[in-house]
Amino acid sequence: MSLAERNLNESGVESADRRHNIHPFTDLSVMEAADRTVIASAKGNYVYGEDGRKFLDGLGGMWCVNIGHGRDEMADAVASQIRTLDYYSPFDDLTSAPMAALAEALATRAPGSLNRVLFTTGGSTAVDSAIRLVHHYFIRRGEPSRRHIITRDKSYHGSTYLTASLSDRGYSTDWNAETAFIHHLTAPGLYRRPDGVTEAEFTQLLVAEFEAKILELGPENVACFIAEPIQGSGGVIVPPVNYHPRMIEICRKYGVLYIADEVVTAFGRLGHFFASQDYFGFVPDIITCAKGLTSGYVPAGAVILSDEIYEVLSRPGTYFNTGFTYTGHAVACTAALKNIEIIERERICERVREIGPYFEERLAPLADLPLVGDVRGRRFMMCIEYVANKGRKELFADDVRIGKRIWRHCQKRGLLVRPLAHLNVLSPPLTLERNEIDFIADVLHDAILDTADELVREGVAAE
Ligand SMILES: Cc1ncc(COP(=O)(O)O)c(C=O)c1O
Repeated sequence: MSLAERNLNESGVESADRRHNIHPFTDLSVMEAADRTVIASAKGNYVYGEDGRKFLDGLGGMWCVNIGHGRDEMADAVASQIRTLDYYSPFDDLTSAPMAALAEALATRAPGSLNRVLFTTGGSTAVDSAIRLVHHYFIRRGEPSRRHIITRDKSYHGSTYLTASLSDRGYSTDWNAETAFIHHLTAPGLYRRPDGVTEAEFTQLLVAEFEAKILELGPENVACFIAEPIQGSGGVIVPPVNYHPRMIEICRKYGVLYIADEVVTAFGRLGHFFASQDYFGFVPDIITCAKGLTSGYVPAGAVILSDEIYEVLSRPGTYFNTGFTYTGHAVACTAALKNIEIIERERICERVREIGPYFEERLAPLADLPLVGDVRGRRFMMCIEYVANKGRKELFADDVRIGKRIWRHCQKRGLLVRPLAHLNVLSPPLTLERNEIDFIADVLHDAILDTADELVREGVAAE
C-alpha cells in the first residue's frame, strides 16, 4: 500500500485536509468547518467527485486546462520523459532537448522579435522574473532610475510578494504590499465607466491618465507598464477596442516597456497562441505566460522577451543572476510541447474562433435576469457580474456571498464555475462542445433564478 493510501485510510481525505492543508485564497476561519468537494478524477471536459458526482468543468481547472483533462497521449509523453530524463540542472551550459525545443516553439509562435525565453515555474514567477529583468535591463542601459511600474486596478499578476503588489490593491487588504515603486491606473472596464461617457471618450481618459502618471513620476523614472490583454481574475474586463494600441504608443513615446501578462489569454483561450498581436493588434516587449502553456498538466511558466532586450542583457560585464531549480524542467517542457502539438493538430485555436461567439451569444441573455448587472467577456473567457440594483449597479453586501450562492446552485446541477465575490467566471476547456455551452447557459439561468428566489425569501432582495 502506498504512503498516500495508508495515510488516507487512517484519517480520510476530508479530515486530513481539514487538519493540515492550507487552501489558497480562502477564508481560513470557515475552512475548518466547511465541507470539501473532493475531486477524484477528470476526463475530457468533466471532473468527478470522490462520491461519483460528475461536473462539467466551467473553469478549466483554473483558467488552464485548455486541451481538456486526462489525455492518454499526455500521460504517455510525461511518463516516457521521466523514464528517459527526469530532471537535470538547467544552469550554465547544461540543457536538454525538451527545454531547447520548447524555447524554439515559443519563439516561433510569439509576435515580433520576441525570440528569447526564460522558463519559470508558473505565472507568478514569470511576472516576478519579468520585472527583475526589466529593472536589470535599465541598469545595464545606464538608466538605473527607471524603477517605477505602472499597473491597473482589478489586475491579477500573481501571489509572490511583488506580483501581489502589482495586482489590484484589494488583494493586499491586511497584507503588506510594495507601494514605493508601484502605481495603479483605472481598470478599463466599460460596465463601470463614468456615466454618460462614450467608449471613445473613456479610452481617451484612460490614455490621458497613463500619460499624466508617467509625467508625474518623470519618464526617466518609469520602467514598464504591465497589463493582461483581458483582465481575468479581476472580472474578465475587456478593454475598449483601441486601448492597448493607444497605451503602447504612450510607452513608445516615453521609452517605457510594455509587459503583456498573457498567463490566461495565451494558448488558445481567445482563439490565438498569443492574444496581444493577433487579437488586440499590438506587439509588447515582453510576454509572460503559464497555465495553458502545459494545459495545467504540469506546472510551468515562461517569460518571452524581445531580441532588443536580450541584446542589452547579454552584453559583457555582468552575470544573469536569476532562474530557478526547475527552470526548463524536462517533464514540464515535454508536457508543453505535447500540449502545443495537440492544440495545432486539433486546430483548437480555429475552433475557439468558431465556437467562442456561440458561447458569448448563449450567455448574453442572462443579462435580462434579476441580479445580473453585466455579462461580458470574449470567446472562452466569460464573466457574469451580479448587482443588488441594476439601475445603480450597486453591489450586494459581502456577507450575501452572491457569487458563492450561485456557484452552489450550479454545483448542485453538475456545473463548476468560479465564484469571485460578486462574480462568476467561466474559462472552460477549449474542447467544449456546443451542447455543453447550452448546458452551461441553462444551468446558470436556473441557478440565478433560484438564487433570486432564495434572496427574496431571506428578505435580502425585494420581489
Ligand atoms: C494574468 C495572471 N498572471 C499571473 C498569474 C499567476 O499565475 P500562477 O498562479 O501560476 O502563479 C495569474 C493566475 O491566475 C494570472 O491570471
